[in-house]
Amino acid sequence: MLKLERLRCEYMENPLGLAETRPRLGWAIASDSTNVLQSGYRVQVATSPDFSDPAWDSGEVASDESVAARYGGPGLEPRTRYFWRVRITASGGEASEWSETAWFETAMGPSEWRAVFISAETDGSWFDSKGTRLRTSFRALGKIVSARVYASALGLYELRLNGRAVGDEVLAPGWTSYGKRLLYQIYDVTELVREGDNALCATVGAGWYKGDLAGWLGRRNVYGGRTALLAQLVLRYEDGHEEIVATDGSWRASEGPVLSSEIYHGEVYDARLEDSGWDMPDYDDSSWRPASVLDRDLSTLVPRDGLPVRRHETFKPVSLIVTPKGEKVLDFGQNIAGRIRFTVKGPAGSRVVIRHAEALDSQGNFYTANLRSAKARIVYVLSGEGVEIYEPHFTYMGFRYASVDEWPGEIDSAAFEAVAIYSDMEETGSFACSSELLNKLHSNIGWGLRGNFVDIPSDCPQRDERLGWTGDAQVFIGTAAFLMGSDRFYRKWLRDLAADQSPEGGVPHVIPNVLPAYVGGDGALISPDSACGWADAATICPWTVYVCYADRDLLEEQYPSMRAWVERIRSLARDGLIWDSGFHFGDWVALDAKEGSYLGATPNDFTATAFYAKSTLLLSKAAAVLGRDEDAAGYAALYDRILEAFRSEFFSPSGRIAVRTQTACVLALDFGLAPPEHRDRVRDTLLALIKENCGHLVTGFLGTPYLCRALADSGAIDAAYSLLMREEYPSWLYQVRKGATTVWEHWDGLKPDGTMWSADMNSFNHYAYGSIGEWMHSSVAGISADESSPGYKRILFKPLPGGGLSRAEASIQTVYGLASIKWEIEDGQLKVETLVPHNATASLVPPVGGAAASAVELGSGRESFTYPWAATPSS
Ligand code: BGC
Repeated sequence: MLKLERLRCEYMENPLGLAETRPRLGWAIASDSTNVLQSGYRVQVATSPDFSDPAWDSGEVASDESVAARYGGPGLEPRTRYFWRVRITASGGEASEWSETAWFETAMGPSEWRAVFISAETDGSWFDSKGTRLRTSFRALGKIVSARVYASALGLYELRLNGRAVGDEVLAPGWTSYGKRLLYQIYDVTELVREGDNALCATVGAGWYKGDLAGWLGRRNVYGGRTALLAQLVLRYEDGHEEIVATDGSWRASEGPVLSSEIYHGEVYDARLEDSGWDMPDYDDSSWRPASVLDRDLSTLVPRDGLPVRRHETFKPVSLIVTPKGEKVLDFGQNIAGRIRFTVKGPAGSRVVIRHAEALDSQGNFYTANLRSAKARIVYVLSGEGVEIYEPHFTYMGFRYASVDEWPGEIDSAAFEAVAIYSDMEETGSFACSSELLNKLHSNIGWGLRGNFVDIPSDCPQRDERLGWTGDAQVFIGTAAFLMGSDRFYRKWLRDLAADQSPEGGVPHVIPNVLPAYVGGDGALISPDSACGWADAATICPWTVYVCYADRDLLEEQYPSMRAWVERIRSLARDGLIWDSGFHFGDWVALDAKEGSYLGATPNDFTATAFYAKSTLLLSKAAAVLGRDEDAAGYAALYDRILEAFRSEFFSPSGRIAVRTQTACVLALDFGLAPPEHRDRVRDTLLALIKENCGHLVTGFLGTPYLCRALADSGAIDAAYSLLMREEYPSWLYQVRKGATTVWEHWDGLKPDGTMWSADMNSFNHYAYGSIGEWMHSSVAGISADESSPGYKRILFKPLPGGGLSRAEASIQTVYGLASIKWEIEDGQLKVETLVPHNATASLVPPVGGAAASAVELGSGRESFTYPWAATPSS
């Protein structure tokens, strides 16, 4: 029987506050049959759940589209809930019933704002980071059938209605390039409002808007000096009429218990100032001052286009350690981005002081040097009134350990809980194999992702950076898009990338951009944008999202940004072909860097031209997908010219590569830059370089992601596995052996002798090297998306058993449904099991028979294959 499930609108389940005027609808097909393909669909959209008044009926549409079927009805009304359902016909003629009903609700029309930004701060608050309070009360005369709040802030906000929290997200409105795009959130508060007296209240904190940012440059007040709130509550009464309660000059303002709160520094909270009932209607706010109205253009406001940041996993301490220095340290067992919630009882005025850290030093003492200027410290002053529960408000920390420096009485571990916070993505991917160390590495990669997806893709969550470094984002996106449903997450960030691009097309190093040109640690002047491998996030990220989620709209929207970036490189490159100028981070933190330097040995002109070629190729592919034929041909031709120039610049006629580094060979192989007839020679050079390094990698940010793939795809599968399975320094599993629970920034973050890489740049939660996850999914287990039929509409199963593994498996909840592969070696046989979702197909390349092996074409459903297998796995 055919059934429809996982109904999505714009890749979200029942989204509240949609900006799209012609949203796309998607569904997955459930069926007991195999080889199911959709041949047609019919969608109905209505304003009531019984579909008595259809706003649109698509009629029977002959199409296999089940991910992005576009609404084609009349213009959608703002602030309106639409219900929708779908039914389909399969190619065999079987038809489904109507699906369950799903809904989407449109956002506010841009001209509907009655609210204005109001502030409890003054121009003198420039250096404050207080949590200030704003409130109003109002009377609802009649029965309310629906209520919504549309809210945003300059800073961060928490809303309360009649004493209760509005929504469950944290750090709203998130971080965007505020001057160009400020997000507002939409909350359904129907259950919170009541007939009669009500109070709408907020606390507003500094956040990214005005707190310290890019600590090593001492930046502050990057977007402004005064926090402010914007909120519009729309009440709809039983008789259909509406009433608006909006922020304006009649609101009242005051300070509150949040004495200071900053993203990097933690929070100081005095519970004696809580002033209970401040968020209730009958509170007497006559001692509060009037809020001031800020004159701010509202045209930059857009409904939230990313994902809310929410609380997720919680961790109880696994131990309470007393360090040699005498510090009392809680170990939560997992490095996370988040906050500590605790329960405390004690006299008024007594304090709880907690510092956060990722690691203990070689002596076992609490180690905070790598946080640099980030204080990551919580100070809580007790009110003394019974049991007090506290979790900070406008900050988060990257930590596994917490030093409890002050606590009233004996410390009880049970009083603490670490709460992971990150963007609310669906966990889509999984991986497991017969090596527990690899499984732990995979878990660490997942935690690297969670810890660095706090609204933007950040480099790290602990020190005074936590910035959207573009290079880190682009190397990790292939892994992330497998593990988590991150289409919307990247879409939001890419909009900021496009917004922050320079008029010449230059792409800043961090998005949202908060960095001016500055002098780096090596004394080099770091330009404000356009570093190879970093700025190429502009092309690599939209393309990857397209391939993984079939999001053609995103590609269309980012196309001008992609094009502008490639044109920018063209203008910088010698003869428009060899990019040999400007500042580059290069193969960042590679081990072949000169002593004390972060810059790997691979020269910039090689790396920069390699990425120029890659970006140009992706642009031409994007143009082809979008039907921009002239651009597609033009950029394909440009790509050919870059390739030719690259080969003549960096290869001798007999195929010797001019740059003898691991990363140079990796890029030449993986980007298809090595002359085809000399690929084997480049691979052999790479193998020789690995051998010269006693079988170890020395690659940095730009070579590592593709290292195993470059080896395996050029026939050196054993060498690829040998790097992956190594347990001694430097390697992925070295970190695991050293007890890592996330992925480190440096191969030598913690050295074999127990000492650490210099504290100025030593994060234990940097996902960049976690980009090996992509190879683990696509090759160790053997599942990836075919870019010619994106969104896993066509799946590539290409398992490469090796490394002594006896089994591996991976699964992904694709936009079509669940896909998986599992292989196992037993009794001289290799058994491969696959699952293809309905309305998708797959191609299985068996790992036997060498290059001549012919692929097996698969329809939807489960299949299993057995092959003779000679090699004996060791685990
Ligand atoms: C960050 C990196 C980033 C780099 C630029 C560092 O401080 O943490 O991950 O990409 O700077 O090279």
